[in-house]
Order: sequence, then structure tokens, then C-alpha cells
Amino acid sequence: MTISPDTVQIVKDSRPVLRERGTEIISTFYDTLFERYPEVRHQFNTDRHRGGVTKEGGIPAQVSRLANAVLAYAKNIEKVEALLPVVERIGYRHICRDVKPVQYGAVAECLLAALKIQLKDAATEDFIAAWKEAIEHLAAVFIDVEAKLRAELEEKAGYSGFVAVVVDQVEELDSKTVLSLVPKDHGVPAHEEGQFVGVRIETEGNDPLMCTMDVYGSHTDSLKIVIADNEEKATKALKACTKGSVLYVSVPCGKGKSN
Ligand code: HEM
Repeated sequence: MTISPDTVQIVKDSRPVLRERGTEIISTFYDTLFERYPEVRHQFNTDRHRGGVTKEGGIPAQVSRLANAVLAYAKNIEKVEALLPVVERIGYRHICRDVKPVQYGAVAECLLAALKIQLKDAATEDFIAAWKEAIEHLAAVFIDVEAKLRAELEEKAGYSGFVAVVVDQVEELDSKTVLSLVPKDHGVPAHEEGQFVGVRIETEGNDPLMCTMDVYGSHTDSLKIVIADNEEKATKALKACTKGSVLYVSVPCGKGKSN
């Protein structure tokens, strides 16, 4: 898939406006995404989008991460290979939040809508057409990288998607709260220190919550995860877990320490 030279130029020329207005564009993007596609909300840690967790001068962490990623793409649109390590890193984060290829269409649509809302007349027809081509190109790169990673990870774990696990033990180790999880109908997935898993928490009558937690060590009888030290909704729900609680975990993601 090649990108037209006009698109490359327009996207590269967008760098100053992305630097100046990137966080407003991305905030509008998330508002639009959650409004038009409320079913994706639970995959995100919405505290990070609404100012609950802030970094870089009060900007929600996830907003600045995505704004930086879009800017990096505008800089490297002609040499996307340079971005592959970053795409891989983000890809692991996506897999553990159950991001599906089909969802890229919604993200592209809402990013274009956000550019129009924020840039108004400056978002000309040519500008939007160029960004549409560029985002679709980037989405294709993500989908391809994630498909390969997902296949490898699923083979190692012995399952795909998420599996039900039972909390077997809650321990304090190295001043961290650690949950030992035992899959209900599967063997313990191969895992190692340095990896992380997506955790889905289902509570009756509410939308599920999702979060990403680090793997603690490497064990054969259980998968141990560290509960993050923050006050996000999903983290609080994990802290309330006791022996016997049921959760759902993704395949272990990330390269791990031995790689
Ligand atoms: C080309 C399109 C996309 C780009 C450039 C992108 C970029 C990013 C970045 C930079 C992160 C932060 C990773 C980190 O923790 O360091 C992220 C996380 C995430 N992305 Fe994407 N993403 C894209 C598409 C999608 C799609 C289609 C979905 C599905 C709805 C999605 C859902 C998520 C979720 C749920 C997280 C974790 C957020 C959290 O911690 O709350 N992304 N993405």
C-alpha cells in the first residue's frame, strides 16, 4: 500500500498544527468516539481520558500519548518502518484490551471528525482526504502487526482472547498487592516477568471494566499479577477482589524480560 505524494505533503505540513492543537484534537476525538461508539468505552481506562490521571501539565495521560503518536506518524509518514517498534509496543497494549481490526474504522472516522471540529475552515476537503488516506494506511500497519503478534501470543498462551480465572490468593509481596489467578478451564498460560495482561472485571448491572496489570514473576501453578498503585475505577475493583472472585484475562502480552 503506497501513499500519494500529495497526501505525504499535506500530512507533513500538518505538523505545526498538530504540535499546537494536538491535545485539543485528541480530546475531541475521544469525546466523539465515546459518544458515537459507547460500546468501546469499557476497553479504555476512561479515568485517563477525563483528567483522572494527568501528566504533562494536566493533560490526561492517554490524550498526550495518542497526540504524540499521531505527531510521530506525521513526521515519519514516508518511512513507516521507523515506527514499527512503537507500533509493536502499542500493539501489545491493544491486544490486551481486546482491540479488534474492525474497530479501526470507527477510530479513523472519529479522528477525521475531530480534525474537522477543531480546525474548522482550515480542515479543507483536500486536507481531510489526505488525512483519511494517511489514517487508513496507519490502521493497515497496526492491523498487520497486531495480527502477527496475536497469533504468536495465542500460540504460547494456548488460548485466544480472554479466559475466566479464579483468584486463588491475595498476597502482599515486595510492598505490592499481588493476585494469584488460576484459569477455570485452561492450563496456566506461559508467562514471564516484564509481561502484562489485560484484565476484564464484570460486575452485575454495570458495564465491564478493563485495565492492564503487570505479571509478577513466572509460575507454573498460577498467573500472578500486581495491582497497580492508583485510584482508577478498575484498580479499585481489583483491590476489592477476594479468594474465589472471577476475572477474565487476556493472553500475556509484551516481550518479557528475557527478550
Ligand atoms: C491508528 C490508530 C491508533 C493509534 C495511533 C493508537 C495509539 C495508541 C497509543 C499511543 C496508546 C497508548 C499506549 C501506551 O500505553 O503506551 C493506545 C492505547 C490504547 N488504544 Fe489505541 N491506537 C489506535 C487505534 C485504536 C483502536 C482501533 C482502538 C479500539 C477501540 C484502540 C484502543 C486503545 C486502548 C483501549 C488503549 C489503552 C488505553 C488505556 O490505557 O486506557 N486504539 N493506542
